[in-house]
Amino acid sequence: MDIAVIGSNNVDLISYITRMPEEGETIEAPDFQLGCGGKGANQAVAASRLGSEVLMVTRVGNDLFADNTIANFKANGIDDKYILKTEATSGVAPIFVDQQSRNSIIIVKGANALLTPEDLQNAREDIAACQLIVLQLEINLETVYAAIELGAELGIPVLLNPAPAAPELSLEKIKNVDFIVPNETELSLISGMPVDTLDDISNAAAVLINAGIKNVIVTLGARGVLWVSEAGEQVIEANAVHAVDTTGAGDAFIGCFTHFWVRNRDIAESLRLANYYAGDSVTRQGTQKSYATGEEFRQRFPEIF
Ligand code: RIB
Repeated sequence: MDIAVIGSNNVDLISYITRMPEEGETIEAPDFQLGCGGKGANQAVAASRLGSEVLMVTRVGNDLFADNTIANFKANGIDDKYILKTEATSGVAPIFVDQQSRNSIIIVKGANALLTPEDLQNAREDIAACQLIVLQLEINLETVYAAIELGAELGIPVLLNPAPAAPELSLEKIKNVDFIVPNETELSLISGMPVDTLDDISNAAAVLINAGIKNVIVTLGARGVLWVSEAGEQVIEANAVHAVDTTGAGDAFIGCFTHFWVRNRDIAESLRLANYYAGDSVTRQGTQKSYATGEEFRQRFPEIF
């Protein structure tokens, strides 16, 4: 196994809107997409589509969404051994995408909130066979912290995507991760620093490095990423694209980064490729629906390999 993703899955209900309704107002949206999403599932599916062997540890509900989510994992080459059925609703995410491709997301955690540290212990043997543990914040923090401890016990590197932003996240408890991949807002919250300029972002990232985190990879949207480590820092710029829907682009980026890093252990090179993969995903509607397979990615960008 290459990558263990311990995290969420949601059903994404994406409405493409011309504007948000006012209070008490009903408006019509011109378009809609139903698809599989959730930050954990998205990252797992992106890595798997690129060719990684992915172990997914997650909880689905006992409703009509659950079987479709399990079938989707299987269709994307992800085994259902640790996709646990739960007496709860499945995670859902009503999403609104405007005509400038900006999104607003509401998540209802449902079964995702019931993934426990015991679930990780039950999967311990299979997690131990992976080369990287990948985490996000759509499950309970106690399970996230337990996964970080498990990674340390097993000697497996851990990547944490601290999304969505969680004010109660403890820097002390995440200081041993090998990679943290925040956006600017999340970085500001974790570091307690402003992020108005690139210098601010660099100073905020330094707070995390000084706490013990080995690599801080700040996603900067269309500008690419800033990678900071003890060895220095570097901006890896993204190629220009025409975005139609940025939903799940950060997850595409992480899935692609983990896929290549597990193979080449070259952070800069994996970030360069992940920028292209995420950029490609925003040119299509939907979340996982917009993720290329390894073959499609190579065909679209033969010059980058
Ligand atoms: O990052 C995008 C994801 O955030 C969506 O798939 C939605 O489910 C929410 O988890």
